[in-house]
Amino acid sequence: MAESSGKDPLIIRSMEFIGGMIEPTGWRPPADLPEIAFSGRSNVGKSSLLNTLLRRRAFARVSKTPGRTREINFFRINGTFTLVDLPGYGYAKVSKERKEVWGGLIDEYIRTSPTLRGVVQLLDIRRDPTDDDKQMLDFLADIEKPTIVTLTKADKLSKNEVAERSQKIARQLLLDPEQVIVFSSHTGYGRDELAEAVSSLMSQ
Ligand code: GTP
Ligand code: MG
Repeated sequence: MAESSGKDPLIIRSMEFIGGMIEPTGWRPPADLPEIAFSGRSNVGKSSLLNTLLRRRAFARVSKTPGRTREINFFRINGTFTLVDLPGYGYAKVSKERKEVWGGLIDEYIRTSPTLRGVVQLLDIRRDPTDDDKQMLDFLADIEKPTIVTLTKADKLSKNEVAERSQKIARQLLLDPEQVIVFSSHTGYGRDELAEAVSSLMSQ
């Protein structure tokens, strides 16, 4: 499943932070390269997953306080594609008003980005998908955006628990267990499988 084939499916030769999008009509980089976005609840491990995928220790900022990443951050990789770190949604302590602003920004970006090839949707393997998670997945299905579901923080569970939880979550989302990638930023488990899935989205 997540075993490495020995050949890196996503070799990172260069990467560069190219900026943040703060509001729906605000600045964004020219949409001239394929984009893959990473979406999920606040604190689910998006920035950590990006660092693991890119094999960098601290490229995307990892936050101790949930809700830190507030803008949409764009990272140009190998000069050929762009990875997009979306702000986390569903953080309880954020005011309703602010949530709507964030939600609007995320929806608008996903809906209007002409080169967005797909979205990696992160879910914490220990938790059942929330209404926010389901809303996001329904939205992506509605607009027919290719989506890769990735279960984060697998290192926090035993092997048996990982199998149980990933089957349960897949069932809840009406997915085949094979459509779900089990991942850990702490151990690197699932990195190559995700890299492979991301590369194949990019070349579609
Ligand atoms: P926001 O930007 O605030 O929405 O959060 P995020 O989704 O980018 O999460 P981030 O990567 O900042 O990680 C949040 C917390 O979870 C940090 O304390 C990480 O160290 C921890 N974390 C992330 N990935 C993993 C993982 O695979 N395993 C474990 N055990 N902890 C993780
Ligand atoms: Mg983050």
